[in-house]
Amino acid sequence: MALILQVISSGIYIVGSLSIVAFLYDNLKSLFSIIKAVLEPYFRPNLPKTLVEKFGQWAVVTGATDGIGKEYARELARQGLNLVLISRTKEKLIAVTNEIESQYNVKIKWIVVDFAKGREVYDQIEEELNGIDVGILVNNVGMIHDPETLDKVSEDTLWDLLTVNMGSVTMLTRKILPQMIGRRKGAIVNLGSSSELQPLPNLTAYAASKKFITHFSKGLEYEVADHNIHVQLVMPNFVATNMNAYSDKVRQGGLLFPNAYSYARSAVFTLGKTSETNGFWVHGIQYALMKLAPMQIRTYFGNQLFKRLRIEALEHRQKKQNLY
Ligand SMILES: NC(=O)c1ccc[n+]([C@@H]2O[C@H](COP(=O)([O-])OP(=O)(O)OC[C@H]3O[C@@H](n4cnc5c(N)ncnc54)[C@H](OP(=O)(O)O)[C@@H]3O)[C@@H](O)[C@H]2O)c1
Ligand SMILES: *[C@@H]1O[C@H](CO)[C@@H](O)[C@H](O)[C@H]1NC(C)=O
Repeated sequence: MALILQVISSGIYIVGSLSIVAFLYDNLKSLFSIIKAVLEPYFRPNLPKTLVEKFGQWAVVTGATDGIGKEYARELARQGLNLVLISRTKEKLIAVTNEIESQYNVKIKWIVVDFAKGREVYDQIEEELNGIDVGILVNNVGMIHDPETLDKVSEDTLWDLLTVNMGSVTMLTRKILPQMIGRRKGAIVNLGSSSELQPLPNLTAYAASKKFITHFSKGLEYEVADHNIHVQLVMPNFVATNMNAYSDKVRQGGLLFPNAYSYARSAVFTLGKTSETNGFWVHGIQYALMKLAPMQIRTYFGNQLFKRLRIEALEHRQKKQNLY
């Protein structure tokens, strides 16, 4: 009897210890690799230091006229990178170009493209990128829809979502990867989301598209490691942007809901230092805590949260309709 109890308790001890080690490893590895990267130059002063030295002179940012993408572009320019901005609206591209050029002495080129159009846009982008050595590709563009059951989301919206959220990341990476491999230099940054942690009913395709980004980034990371190319998965929690402007709570900002500027400053700081990040320390803590819960519970809470957001979104839409 005593022996059985002893076996059981050492079993629990072993499983418990392994779980704790796995939890700490999983959640601290990114932090450790950032610390290592920050300290390394003191011991190896010959290592390239700036993003330009590490990856190259030009950065391409998709969805660069608003929100996180715009602030990624601004921060990369601050660090001396020339930019290629890509999004749908010419006027916004010109405005952002002028804004950043007035702040920093970098070259900026822009490309008008609607990623929802699918296959046809990539040859155009390739042509316009001709002669540009892309050091950093930021696959930021992404879209969401008001929370709704799949049968109520229009087919057009679903096609757009799949094409923009997954197609652009895959195909733009495919276009630019060969030149990076040729130079044995480069970084690919993919904006996923902490919504990849569990399914989100009523945002089913969105959450699934972000899970795609996770696996795409992780697979690619191993594929290109030998070519000295850095792949980084960035998974924000809520950032106060147009994407969730309907929510007063998110828009008000605060520690949980950084604005795009603070978010991008923090996320770009991790570029080249870790292959996986939530980009912002509070989001990192939130993500680690969420991961502690079993999937079913995460799904339950995710569902409750978005149910509330759905109501906010509907009210917001109603108000907007009443205005016009
Ligand atoms: N905000 C958050 O809380 C949050 C959380 C987790 C993950 N993310 C991810 O972070 C990324 C950026 O989100 P955000 O909140 O910054 O978005 P946002 O504020 O809505 O900005 C989207 C940007 O993409 C461009 N764009 C949209 N659709 C496009 C299309 N079909 N073709 C080309 N450009 C297009 C928009 O410019 P135009 O309208 O001029 O085209 C705009 O510059 C997304 O991948 C999103 O999933 C965001
Ligand atoms: C999803 O949206 C529908 C309305 O389209 C709503 O009635 C339902 O409560 C929502 N379901 C979940 C699981 O949030």
